Amino acid sequence: MEIAIIGSGYVGLVTGTCFAEVGHNVICVDNDERKVKALQSGTIPIYEPGLEDLVHRNVAARRLRFTTSIEDGVDNSQVIFIAVPTPPQSDGSVDLTYIERVAREIASVLKGYRVIVDKSTVPVKTGEKVADTIRRYNKAEAEFDVVSNPEFLREGCAVDDLMRPDRIVIGANSDRALALMRKIYEPFMAPVMVTDINSAELIKHAANSFLALKISYINAVSAICEASGADVQKVADGIGADKRIGRSFLSAGLGYGGSCFPKDIAAFIAISEQLGTPFHLLKEVQRINQNQRERFLKKLRDTLWVLKEKRLAVWGLTFKPDTDDVRSSVAIELVNDLTREGAHVVAYDPKGIEKVREFKLCPDTVLVSSALDAVRDAEALIIATEWKEFENVDFSEVRRLMHTPLIFDGRNLLDPNTMRDLGFQYHGIGRGTV
Ligand code: UGA
Repeated sequence: MEIAIIGSGYVGLVTGTCFAEVGHNVICVDNDERKVKALQSGTIPIYEPGLEDLVHRNVAARRLRFTTSIEDGVDNSQVIFIAVPTPPQSDGSVDLTYIERVAREIASVLKGYRVIVDKSTVPVKTGEKVADTIRRYNKAEAEFDVVSNPEFLREGCAVDDLMRPDRIVIGANSDRALALMRKIYEPFMAPVMVTDINSAELIKHAANSFLALKISYINAVSAICEASGADVQKVADGIGADKRIGRSFLSAGLGYGGSCFPKDIAAFIAISEQLGTPFHLLKEVQRINQNQRERFLKKLRDTLWVLKEKRLAVWGLTFKPDTDDVRSSVAIELVNDLTREGAHVVAYDPKGIEKVREFKLCPDTVLVSSALDAVRDAEALIIATEWKEFENVDFSEVRRLMHTPLIFDGRNLLDPNTMRDLGFQYHGIGRGTV
């Protein structure tokens, strides 16, 4: 199949590349000339395990190419995916400027039947608006169908999620469009769920909100564990063993961050309010998430007393491991909370440092290039992102280098008993007496 993907961010680039990998011919369109030039010369703008090889292989096989021209994409494809950003506005609602602009641009060059697919996370009823816009701006009066096909990939394992999805949701109101969509997804051998467009759009926001709710649920339980001397890891194992609940997304920690959950939960709240059916439960999900970081800071203050002038090592700055994405990272918010209180923070991250520097996200923090460099003379070590690399550091050396051997594990990455045997005072999240 001939496919165009408009927007070469995380979702667009990974989706386009994986479509090429299964044999489709893909044109990735982006209006950022620098990004397109970089991609054309083989430079991948994001770190995502496995992606670079896949891009190179499919470019070499001539199944994948990059352009700044929407016309090129629309002319030379049967199906056009829109994968542009849908950033939040100050009231939490979604800014649909990019989607609307792309819809107008498609309309200006649309000559014959095409399927236009919304891949970006959008509020329910956006499909209807995209269709209205294209109809209004398309002088050729070409035939087209709009489809919603939400994406469920996670950063850090995006390629795997896309190649082996749990399900593929296609919201379509036309058999002609549906037949083309089924053909695109045939090689993926995953269950296809066909819905109307509005339901498909809602599935995405409802799914992300539910996952965030699971995280906030276990984080609220972690506070009770701390107060009662129970261990949240064991509690999570115990409830997660129930197949109806499941163990995933029950890892207590500093809370969720990233470019999706905070934005999507706020958007779903705004959508529910606009529809006159406010979703109060999600406000509590947000409150618990925020509170988790505050509880962690309190724990630091309770132990270290005054944070001002304390030398603190922080491991992890990305919003989660295996990515270089630092957008809405709880780790970065925490680091900035600490420096605001006057602490001297020395931070290390395996992949995120470059972006933190580029966007000046931690202006008062010293950024170093190894985990051991960060802990030299530190009065406490804080683990803010659970990179595997941190588990394999030589902790006897860490103990030797630190000024005072205190560990605050914001992601429950380490084993408390091992750390205590090595001479550390260890504080996890919700790990009362272990
Ligand atoms: C999330 C969803 O998981 C994807 O299904 C969805 O497609 C994507 O958003 C999106 O809307 O594009 P992502 O943001 O990449 O994916 O990352 P997650 O793995 O979901 O993690 C989100 C945050 O939750 C991270 O900060 C992570 O540290 C935190 N988290 C996750 C926890 O605190 N505890 C957990 O048990 C799991």
